Amino acid sequence: MKSRSFIRSSFISSPNIKVPKNCCCSSITCKRFSSSNQHSRNSRANPLTLDRHSVYNRYEEVVKYARDEPDKFWAQMAREKVTWHKPFSVVNESDFKKDGRVRWFGDGQLNVSENCLDRHDRDSVALIWEKDEPRQHQHVTYGELLDLTCQVAHTLLQLGVSKGDRVVIYLPTCPIAIATMLACARIGAIHCVVFAGFSASALAQRINDAGAKLVVTADRSPRGGKMIELKKIVDEAVKMSGCVEKVLVWQRLGKKDLKGIDVDLEKEVGNQSKEMEAPSMNAEDPLFMLYTSGSTGKPKGLVHTSGGYLAYVAWTHEMVFNWTKGDVFACVADIGWITGHSYLAYGALANGITTVLFESTPLYPDPGRYWEMVERLGVNQLYAAPTAIRSLLKKGDSYPHQYDLSSLRTLGSVGEPINTEAWLWYNEHVGHNRCTVVDTWWQTETGGIMISPRPSAPEAEIIPTMAMRPLPGVEVVLIDPLTKEELPKGVATDGDMCITRPWPSMARTIWKDHNRYVDTYLTKEHGYYLTGDEAHQTEENYYRITGRMDDVINISGHRLGTSEVEDAIDQHPQVSESAVVSIPHSIKGEAIVAFVTLKDNCSIEETQLETEINAVIKKEIASFAQPENIHFVSNLPRTRSGKIMRRILKKVITTGASEDLGDISTLADPSAVQTVVDTVNKKKKNDLHK
Ligand code: WT7
Repeated sequence: MKSRSFIRSSFISSPNIKVPKNCCCSSITCKRFSSSNQHSRNSRANPLTLDRHSVYNRYEEVVKYARDEPDKFWAQMAREKVTWHKPFSVVNESDFKKDGRVRWFGDGQLNVSENCLDRHDRDSVALIWEKDEPRQHQHVTYGELLDLTCQVAHTLLQLGVSKGDRVVIYLPTCPIAIATMLACARIGAIHCVVFAGFSASALAQRINDAGAKLVVTADRSPRGGKMIELKKIVDEAVKMSGCVEKVLVWQRLGKKDLKGIDVDLEKEVGNQSKEMEAPSMNAEDPLFMLYTSGSTGKPKGLVHTSGGYLAYVAWTHEMVFNWTKGDVFACVADIGWITGHSYLAYGALANGITTVLFESTPLYPDPGRYWEMVERLGVNQLYAAPTAIRSLLKKGDSYPHQYDLSSLRTLGSVGEPINTEAWLWYNEHVGHNRCTVVDTWWQTETGGIMISPRPSAPEAEIIPTMAMRPLPGVEVVLIDPLTKEELPKGVATDGDMCITRPWPSMARTIWKDHNRYVDTYLTKEHGYYLTGDEAHQTEENYYRITGRMDDVINISGHRLGTSEVEDAIDQHPQVSESAVVSIPHSIKGEAIVAFVTLKDNCSIEETQLETEINAVIKKEIASFAQPENIHFVSNLPRTRSGKIMRRILKKVITTGASEDLGDISTLADPSAVQTVVDTVNKKKKNDLHK
């Protein structure tokens, strides 16, 4: 059976199928892109469509249209990008101020999986699975992916999954994971992908919060040449949760005995029909939930819905990446994060282009991994994280120079601020100064890209490290952090970034906690969406996103809350309390430093304690959450009301001094600061001597 071949473990390397290019429009040298040319003059007289030629050439006009007539604009976008079973008659029923309701195209009906599969040419390539083992890739056509999706959808139904049920997916980036996401979409189940690097505890927490009845996983999975024991982790997590009825297991690396609630995925799927009508779902039916960290409390299950989300990610995928039919789009993010959902999967598939599933890591087997893949697969758009770019540039220019990278046209960056050195290196050594570099700003909550140089900036005007201007329809303002007043446009300034109007792909709520959603994201003063990011605005209203305004840390593009890491550290029996701050890191962007006070009777050596605490963090969250340094202090600086002053800890760790700490008048015990300074400096000295 053909569709079973890519759920089997064998490595099949197929030739690179190249679909002929039928259009020259994604070429930056194409004359149709110049605003002074004939095409543009003609289009000015034409009705305003929202395809990329129109938007690139008439950006200001489109922005004005979206601002003046938002309902018409968004309705047109949603009609152009989505095939609806039942057309919508209402557009936007959102109300940030009243009850934090967000609702788009409310009476429309569609099926997301049908939009991503059935409407495309069966023979064109949907997925290229770039397996962990180097030089091993496999093609999956749209027809094959549709067949497999229907088979998985039948399996889900047979296992008792129905519309609205939650299905946790704990898999690496591979075709069966994509088919499972689309199968959930086909039957209206809500998928919840958990990054397959999270620990059993973190997985259990998510399974329980979501109330998932089914978990889909594999026995084992290679990543960067190492084997990850997925099934063992799932077994442990299932033991800690009370809701899982079945575990569907892809026996990727050989048959092992499945027990109890385990079901053999390959066997079940192989018995199912490859056909399934796509039932109509409502535009506001949940499509998926995805957990992300906030500044306080446990991770939040953000809920995304169907119609508005799909339309927006498909549209922005076209606007930002400027692909042509037949292109190979490689978003090297993992499907465990929103980038993997919105661009690797839904955006690319809704647009019917070929999307690469990158299962490995940028340094495996060597730092030429991305570049060798770009050459072998003929990648046209690469979408990567600054942390990967920084780690690769550190390895020197020889790696990208060994490969033919001439297929590349758009280079995307996402997940964290990109520094000038990384931006310039990406542009010069990867893009050979002839690609468009797009630094795209967005969040799990926003669902899709909000600020990006494409389509907003003419080619010559992209400024390194700037995300430039918002996409049409996205209204950004900066707020003064102290006065909470809106800062004027057209002046160079810094502030907390807000979005004033709802947009279709916005997360609708936090799973089972709408009050938290309203409290976290909607400002009381203005009724705006608060991004949690700080930004710099130029006189031209270009934006550079500078970092978080809250206690969220971004390590290698992985988002973590300080409280989450502190909660994990506090689980060590000898720890009395802890405080976590972030410091700049040359590769990871940010790194964690932990300050820990111990219980009085603790007699364990500090190095041993450090190892044990790191093990607890790995067990409770994941290894990427482990601190760069742990300092054992006798006291933590706090305010008189008992709040730990992390600001002071951060200052001490970055400057090593007790001076210039800003306002310390609220400190309960000023001597605590000196203790911290002494500990940090002593440790620094010791590390130097090592
Ligand atoms: C946070 C969101 C966007 C999908 C992947 C991360 C930071 C994201 C940029 C950028 C500066 C960025 C922000 C944001 N961030 N993109 N281009 N420049 N910072 O999604 O895990 O929800 O994280 O990542 O701080 O709030 P996420």
